[in-house]
Amino acid sequence: MSASFPSAPADWWRSAVVYQIYPRSFADSDGDGIGDLAGARARLDYLADLGVDAIWLTPFYPSPLVDGGYDVADYQDVDPRLGTLQDVDALVLAAHRRGIRVIVDIVPNHTSDQHPWFRAARAAPPGDPARRRYHFHDGSGPDGAEPPSDWRSHFGGSAWERLPDGQWYLHLFSREQPDLNWDDPDVRQYFQDTLRFWADRGIDGFRVDVAHALAKDMSEPLRSQPTLDAALPQDGTDPLYDRDEVHEVYRSWRRVFEEYDPPRMAVAETWAPTNDRTYLYARPTELGQVFDFSLLKSAWSRDSFLGVVRRALADHARHADAGGGLTWVLSSHDVPRHASRLALPPDVAPEDWVRTRGASPRIDLETGRRRARAATLMMLALPGSAYLYQGEELGLPEVPDLPLEALQDPIGRRSDHDLPGRDGCRVPLPWTSTGPTFGFSTGRSWLPQPPSFAPYAADVQTDDPASTLTLYRRAIALRKALQEPDTTVTWLSTDDPGVLHFRRSNGWECLVNFGTVPSELPDGQVLLSSEPLDGGKVPPESTAWFRRPGAE
Ligand code: BGC
Repeated sequence: MSASFPSAPADWWRSAVVYQIYPRSFADSDGDGIGDLAGARARLDYLADLGVDAIWLTPFYPSPLVDGGYDVADYQDVDPRLGTLQDVDALVLAAHRRGIRVIVDIVPNHTSDQHPWFRAARAAPPGDPARRRYHFHDGSGPDGAEPPSDWRSHFGGSAWERLPDGQWYLHLFSREQPDLNWDDPDVRQYFQDTLRFWADRGIDGFRVDVAHALAKDMSEPLRSQPTLDAALPQDGTDPLYDRDEVHEVYRSWRRVFEEYDPPRMAVAETWAPTNDRTYLYARPTELGQVFDFSLLKSAWSRDSFLGVVRRALADHARHADAGGGLTWVLSSHDVPRHASRLALPPDVAPEDWVRTRGASPRIDLETGRRRARAATLMMLALPGSAYLYQGEELGLPEVPDLPLEALQDPIGRRSDHDLPGRDGCRVPLPWTSTGPTFGFSTGRSWLPQPPSFAPYAADVQTDDPASTLTLYRRAIALRKALQEPDTTVTWLSTDDPGVLHFRRSNGWECLVNFGTVPSELPDGQVLLSSEPLDGGKVPPESTAWFRRPGAE
């Protein structure tokens, strides 16, 4: 067993830089081509040099890997391909020794269809108590041959799957991910036990998958909901998402977190557009923190970035009781990497670009590189916590044109690649610029890496003062010194509509130039810039941090 992280403060997560590890694609220690926990442990010095406060591990539990591990067959064990429980203990211990906390993913909305509960449910006849932990339902239409309702799966098609015995079960994601019935007391108990299982092993916190979907209104007749969670009524009346009852689950989880010293943290994933109800998940009596994905959904434009940051700060101020509302994310395992995404014209949806396999429009990687670095520096200068996705510190672009036969994401596979899959941001990391898998594995990597990954490799960037890796290291170190609990952001007036410029209350200023000509830098000491300054000016598509004389 691993000890808890030794030092306070308990609310370290409020301004943390958290690094998301997608273990299968991070580093492979045993040559099977799949990244694993021992591989992650071997790279902890790299993460300590990067300066992150915590790592968040996406699911490493036993899983058929239909949805990259978000189809969990056993919540209290490790997939043998990724390691053992002892590997978790060793990773936690080694991370804590380096001052890095460890967050794990909890997937409470659905299990794998290989979970013992679902295997028993499937084997049991309709009406059997073994089915009560999931949502089984008779079909509609004269012989029950139609799905019970019009509910949609996020991965395309109906959210209902029919079994040979005629009953249907609900799955908001792939059919191999049946949704759990959170009205069932066994389900509630099992997840509380699971939280304790990992907290007892020294895990510092939890990222809660699809946190807004657990409670469902299954009263008859089932109500129509054909639009997923893109546009929800803001009063908790949707039958599937963001219902009031879900908060009772998180209040009970909070009681579990408080059994520990320091209390365990949690961050809720709700993919629906951020609104006032989003912050309810962050109440100190519930999960404490909630993701705001608005930046990750923004195109490169001064007005959209400004709009997102202003809205988030205002929401945060309005929900001051929900202290963990300020979170920023630019990339994750679910969306095209921001070094490519931000190079797209604002009217092109990243998913549409992926659907064309990166052919239309062709993007300019140099533009993407500049904008991604500028966006990152802006994000890291904001109050709150920032979540980084593995490889963004290398400036890795999306790989939109992986060979079709290599693609694994169920979104693409279920729709015959009509819907854009997420494989392109999950390609294993390049650690070295040479070698068949760029140092990721001694075997054959589970997703092929393109030859164009070579110049992004960590080993070529590590000592290069101009590299993206160096920029991230410097920015995170400076941020550590400058970040402060005061969340006040003062917008500085500028006549230039291409410039976004703000000051933190300790005098730390950040200026982002979205324009096409260099922007004047006010007097001050330049702390860092995403591109070399141009005659003392901030070049187009870049960001500078500075302090004016006299600032504390
Ligand atoms: C995760 C996805 C996953 C889905 C279903 C999401 O929010 O981030 O990767 O496919 O939940 O578990």
